[in-house]
Amino acid sequence: MKTPSPLHVLLLSAGVACSTSEPPPANDASSVTSDASADAGEPDASDVLDASAPDASEPISGAEIFLRDCVSCHTIGRGDQRGPDLNGVTDLRSRQWLVHWLQDPALAATRSPVGRELVATWGVIMPNPSLTGAEIEAVIDYMALQSAAGPLVPSEPVSLSAERFEAMRQRFFGSCSGCHGTLRRGATGPNLEPARTVELGTDALMSVIRNGRPWGMPSFGLVGPLRETELAEMAAFLQQPVPAGPPFTLEAATARWTLMVPVAERPTEPQHTLDWENFFGVVLRDVRKVAIFDGASGTELARVDVGFAVHILRTSSTGRYFYAIGRDGWLTLIDLWAPTPTPVARVQGCFDARSVEGSKAPGYEDQFIIEGCYDPSQYMIFDGLTLEPLAVRSTLGSAVDTGEELNEVRVASIIGLRSAPAWALSLKESGHVLIVSYETSEFPETRRIDAERFLHDGGLDSTGRYFMVAANSRNRMVVIDLETQSLVTTFETGALPHPGRGANWEDPSFGPVNATVHLGEPKLAIYGTDPVGRPENAWRVLREVTLPSSGSLFLKTHPNSPWVVMDMTFSTDPALARQVCAYSKAGGVLDRCFAVSDRGSAVHPEFNRGGTELWVSVWDVDGEIVVYDAVTLVELRRFTGLESPTGKFNVYNTAHDIY
Ligand code: HEC
Ligand code: HEC
Repeated sequence: MKTPSPLHVLLLSAGVACSTSEPPPANDASSVTSDASADAGEPDASDVLDASAPDASEPISGAEIFLRDCVSCHTIGRGDQRGPDLNGVTDLRSRQWLVHWLQDPALAATRSPVGRELVATWGVIMPNPSLTGAEIEAVIDYMALQSAAGPLVPSEPVSLSAERFEAMRQRFFGSCSGCHGTLRRGATGPNLEPARTVELGTDALMSVIRNGRPWGMPSFGLVGPLRETELAEMAAFLQQPVPAGPPFTLEAATARWTLMVPVAERPTEPQHTLDWENFFGVVLRDVRKVAIFDGASGTELARVDVGFAVHILRTSSTGRYFYAIGRDGWLTLIDLWAPTPTPVARVQGCFDARSVEGSKAPGYEDQFIIEGCYDPSQYMIFDGLTLEPLAVRSTLGSAVDTGEELNEVRVASIIGLRSAPAWALSLKESGHVLIVSYETSEFPETRRIDAERFLHDGGLDSTGRYFMVAANSRNRMVVIDLETQSLVTTFETGALPHPGRGANWEDPSFGPVNATVHLGEPKLAIYGTDPVGRPENAWRVLREVTLPSSGSLFLKTHPNSPWVVMDMTFSTDPALARQVCAYSKAGGVLDRCFAVSDRGSAVHPEFNRGGTELWVSVWDVDGEIVVYDAVTLVELRRFTGLESPTGKFNVYNTAHDIY
């Protein structure tokens, strides 16, 4: 372990880390130690107070070691963190055991039954702390003392001037936001909003940032761009409310735009004989890729690199292009007519995005693309064939209910209208559905419909006239009439409805229906969608079907399948998270639930073009896609060796809103 000079640690724990004098880099400490110990006698106080001449011959104390290297995972008397709470561990284990453990956790984990049990419980092996024998003794003494003294209270954050706050904002943006999100809501790395960071406290924050964690958090103190003084400032910054993110302009997008294959160089007809409308695009969530499968043969045709943490795919209205949207705001256009599916253009329209849609009105096919952003609060419009950025507009505004001005209004989902050259955008925090026209190059907002706050995802009814979108933390579905561009109604379905795009079918008693599953309770809610033919049933929950578990994300059907199939991906019971359930349209009952795999979790059912096959992902590092007969639900085949497959999108069904 690289050892900072003791002075350095003293400065930090004394809360004076903002001092402008820069301590020597941590990496130099060992050489300082040997130099200093060669000729120095007892260190005196003046050495310790002089930043230019640290005396590292004084052994580092157990407390200093613990604060530097251990609080990133442990605390004493404040609960389990990334490792067990170490309160009283010196009573629980023998000194010899602790010494062995701290000398080499991996070895102790194989040799000692207690070690084996701990590792089995925590699922990881504590990294070797690389301490000297004396340091191990010191840190064990410290754990005993601190256990006796009571909970380990984190140090107060250092105070930040406006200037240093701004410097840390930039630092965070440059080094951290890629993984934790500009607004610190978490993406690849976890949420770092004050609720969590204040709980972690100054010392743990500094320790995590300095040392990293072996589960994907880089060590910035040892190799990275943050100086030791800045660790304390970053820890203070992280405990303060999240400042608004920087803007993302049209110019910034243009600078990040690449046209790999100009339109003139693209084929005018498919360069293969495959049924490209039956291709499937599969999101390989954690490896920044999209796998493209030929639905007919099940062959994987291409694995396209698209950027960080792909969120979803959509197709252009003709289906020729896949649009891949990443959580980092990158948008990639993939041409399915090329000899093998190929990315032809790419652009970034914001720092964080979740939705994308093409122009679908007759006469405008494939002409424009809109990207809905989480950060900044905006949407960007691009040329549909080249991805040249054309327009950007903020979504900030006031909440539909309280009128409060919001500093964040995220675009949750987008639907391309067929009845008019426009898109409908659900705005999460404000609760509006925005109609944005692409009839003129000004891309005007033609309507701002007051709906319900916390809009999330949704889809169309079978006629395409109604957009049904979940206001999930309000436990309601919202119905928008796209023809009159107005709110029809909202109605309650259950705790945290999450329909994905929903599912449409004909109920034997109630006529045309749509349905949603829920994250917050084990329920399928089915409601009528035909206000003209069956007005008595429209926008009312007609059937409630109990599922084995909550934590559902998606349900899907196809006109040719007798089933509506749903997942329970976020079930807290791992066995149920691996199952999907099939509801019988004719019988009006849940027919069966079955395990898709022995690992990971089952997610996102999708049908092939003909509705003869059902595809389900097994979301796991060693993931799979399992294909079932869409009538008998008998397994037909399994594609293995896929890393974290999640959403998968059949070209025809996505292009034609068949679900
Ligand atoms: C990256 C996280 C991490 C760091 C850093 C870390 N530990 Fe651990 N520690 C763990 C985990 C996890 C366990 C549980 C056993 C396992 O799975 O390896 C553990 C177990 C222990 C135990 C045994 C607990 C028991 O109940 O017997 C002790 C003692 C301990 N750690 C001390 C330390 C000390 C001292 C340091 C700093 C020098 C340290 N750890 C640094 C993660 C960490
Ligand atoms: C390459 C991606 C990545 C980058 C860049 C990154 N982090 Fe992390 N960070 C992670 C991951 C993954 C974790 C979760 C590790 C774990 O499982 O304990 C994490 C954890 C953390 C934690 C602990 C959170 C908790 O709840 O325990 C803090 C604090 C943190 N990061 C701060 C930062 C800061 C500050 C920066 C920039 C200087 C940064 N991270 C940059 C990926 C990243």
